[in-house]
Amino acid sequence: MSTEQSAATLDGISDRLVEARGEADGRAELGPTGRPLREFPVPVPLESHGPARIIAMVNQKGGVGKTTSTINLAAALAEYGRKVLLVDFDPQGALSAGLGINPHELDTTIYNVMMERHVDVRQAIRTTDEPNVDLLPANIDLSAAEVQLVTEVAREQVLASALRNVEDEYDVILIDCQPSLGLLTVNALTAAHGVIIPLICEFFALRAVALLVETIEKVQDRLNPRLTVDGVLATMYDARTLHSREVLARLVEAFGDKVFETVIKRTIKFADATVAAEPITRYASNHPGAEAYRRLARELVARGGAP
Ligand SMILES: Nc1ncnc2c1ncn2[C@@H]1O[C@H](COP(=O)(O)OP(=O)(O)OP(=O)(O)O)[C@@H](O)[C@H]1O
Ligand SMILES: [Mg+2]
Repeated sequence: MSTEQSAATLDGISDRLVEARGEADGRAELGPTGRPLREFPVPVPLESHGPARIIAMVNQKGGVGKTTSTINLAAALAEYGRKVLLVDFDPQGALSAGLGINPHELDTTIYNVMMERHVDVRQAIRTTDEPNVDLLPANIDLSAAEVQLVTEVAREQVLASALRNVEDEYDVILIDCQPSLGLLTVNALTAAHGVIIPLICEFFALRAVALLVETIEKVQDRLNPRLTVDGVLATMYDARTLHSREVLARLVEAFGDKVFETVIKRTIKFADATVAAEPITRYASNHPGAEAYRRLARELVARGGAP
C-alpha cells in the first residue's frame, strides 16, 4: 500500500469512527446540508380551498431542474390534498409537454390570456391526468409576449391580474419560468408571494445566483414588496462526488436556512418520467426521487410556504 493509499484508508476509518461516536452519543445524523436530518409532518387536510399562495420557480440558468421540480412538487402537494394550478411560463412548453399535452395543438394558452383582454384565464386552464392538478399551458406563441408586453400599460403586472380571477380556487399556484430574467420572469415575480430557486449542484451554477438575487430584490423594492425567497432547492446532487458536496456547502454558507433541507439527488428516473409524461410520484411512486419531492412538499408546508 502506498503512503497515499494508507492515508486515504486512515481517513476513511477516522470518518467512520467519528460517525460511530456521534451515534453512540445520541447525536442526530446529519443531512446533506449539514443540518440534523429530521422528518417533516404530513400536512393536515384542508377544510376548504384557496386563496392560493403563488410561487415562482425561477433560475435564469437553463437545465437546472425548474420544470422537473414544478411538476413533481405539484404532484406531491396534490397527493396531500392541495389543489394546485401549474402555470407554464416558458414558450418551450416543457411543463405542458411533461403533463402529456401537446403544446402545438393548443388554441388558447397563457399568451391569449395575457395579451387579449376578452380571454378569461378559465378558457385556457385544463385539467390534467393528475387529480388536483390543473394546467395553464403555454407554447411558442408566448415568445412574442416578451416583445409585445414592452408597450403595455403596467407591463409587469399582466400575469398577476390574469391569475387574480382564479386565485381563490387553488391552494397553490406554481409558475414554471423560462431560463431568463426578462419581462416574463419579472411578471412571474410580480405575481408571486414566494420564489423557489432550483439550483443544480455544479459550480458554474453558483455564479448565476447573484444576478438572480439582485433581480428579486429589485422586484421587491419596486413592484412586489410581499415577495419572499421561500427557498433554494439543490438539485441533481450526487453525494458520491466531492464536487456536489462542496457546491452544497457553499450554498449553505451563502443562503443558510433558506436552503431546503430536502436535496434532490441525480437520477435517470426523472428523464424516464418525462418521456412517459408523468410526474415521478406516479411513474415510480416508491422511487427515492418521488419520496424526495414528497419530503420537499412537507418541508414547504412546514415552513409556511404553502397551506
Ligand atoms: N434530479 C435529477 N436527476 C437527473 N436528471 C434530472 C434531475 N432533474 C432534472 N433532470 C433532467 O435534467 C434536464 C433539465 O431539467 P429541467 O427541464 O427540469 O430543467 P429546467 O431548469 O426547467 O430547464 P430549462 O431552463 O431549459 O427550462 C431534464 O432532462 C431533466 O429530465
Ligand atoms: Mg424548464
